[in-house]
Amino acid sequence: MSAYQTLESQLKQGPSRWLVTGAAGFIGSHLVETLLKLEQDVVGLDNFATGYAANLEDVRAAVGEAAWSRFQFHEGDICSLEACAGAVDGVDYVLHQAALGSVPRSLEDPLRTNGANIDGFLNMLVASRDAGVKRFVYAASSSTYGDHPDLPKVEDRIGNPLSPYAVTKYVNELYADVFARSYGMGCIGLRYFNVFGPRQDPGGAYAAVIPRWFETLCAGESPRINGDGETSRDFCFIDNTVQANLLAATTVNESAVNEVYNVAVGGRTSLNELFTAIRDQLAAYDPALAAIEASYADFRAGDVRHSQADISKARELLGYAPEVEVRRGLEITGEWFLQKLKERRIAHG
Ligand SMILES: NC(=O)c1ccc[n+]([C@@H]2O[C@H](COP(=O)([O-])OP(=O)(O)OC[C@H]3O[C@@H](n4cnc5c(N)ncnc54)[C@H](O)[C@@H]3O)[C@@H](O)[C@H]2O)c1
Repeated sequence: MSAYQTLESQLKQGPSRWLVTGAAGFIGSHLVETLLKLEQDVVGLDNFATGYAANLEDVRAAVGEAAWSRFQFHEGDICSLEACAGAVDGVDYVLHQAALGSVPRSLEDPLRTNGANIDGFLNMLVASRDAGVKRFVYAASSSTYGDHPDLPKVEDRIGNPLSPYAVTKYVNELYADVFARSYGMGCIGLRYFNVFGPRQDPGGAYAAVIPRWFETLCAGESPRINGDGETSRDFCFIDNTVQANLLAATTVNESAVNEVYNVAVGGRTSLNELFTAIRDQLAAYDPALAAIEASYADFRAGDVRHSQADISKARELLGYAPEVEVRRGLEITGEWFLQKLKERRIAHG
């Protein structure tokens, strides 16, 4: 039995109370779904800045009414200490996901990104400290590696941040470390590497590449690749990310606490490979899509060229063992996008 399978059966033996911030977002909604399926009590906090009520409705449909009755939603902004304190009251474990993602967004509006990602983060830390939570797990980011050239990325070797977003995520780590030393809090940072899966937002100027390309190709259009397409990423399916969060929150390994971990699968997929995989997958449903080629544009400011994680620290200290490889994850994600497309077509007659 894997560490995660053991944890799943332990959690089912009795509920703890969890706070998921960013609950209406992509990653947050999956955390809520998994926790409710594991019969936990869950509080969600979100201000719908980039999240959607529809994501929570999806969760409701997936878990059923009995499990859904154990979910309590607070609409609120983490920039308000009062909202954070209200949500964290009586909570055992915090999974802090709320933030404004996207490197380009942070370059265009650094003040807003700073507000949610640093002021909001600090509010959540203070509220969690005051509430005496058992563990504060937070979404860190692979962007913290910045311009460090080494591959794969190892947790203690970071470079200079390349965007305001990367600065905010690094500051999160510094604050968590100081709160652990100064107030004895148990914090764990998870440096996510390009998470993907169902419910990831395909729309808007700041969409991530996988949902954007599924949506573009489903519409029969040609996706745009920034650069020559040989830029590569360690794409990580959402279930692996959920696993890392639950293991981090509940670990009883003292030496695992107050650390940061890479959360990925340890592989590397180029944008060209990704495009071909998504197109060929969709072409199985609609053969006309097989002829679509990508178009190429300039490299994007603030993007790193290659990213690949060394995940041995999470494996050793948390028992993390990613269960879903990129290709399988793309299949699941593609099926979800096709299903949503079908539902939209039915709704519009
Ligand atoms: N998706 C990735 O590949 C990835 C990679 C690295 C790090 N992360 C981090 O993971 C976390 C979740 O990302 P996601 O991909 O689910 O993004 P998302 O945008 O889908 O979810 C973020 C959620 O936080 C909420 N939010 C934003 N500002 C808020 C505020 N001030 N108060 C309350 N709620 C607020 C949004 O409404 C949204 O529901 C973020 O911290 C992000 O920086 C994500």
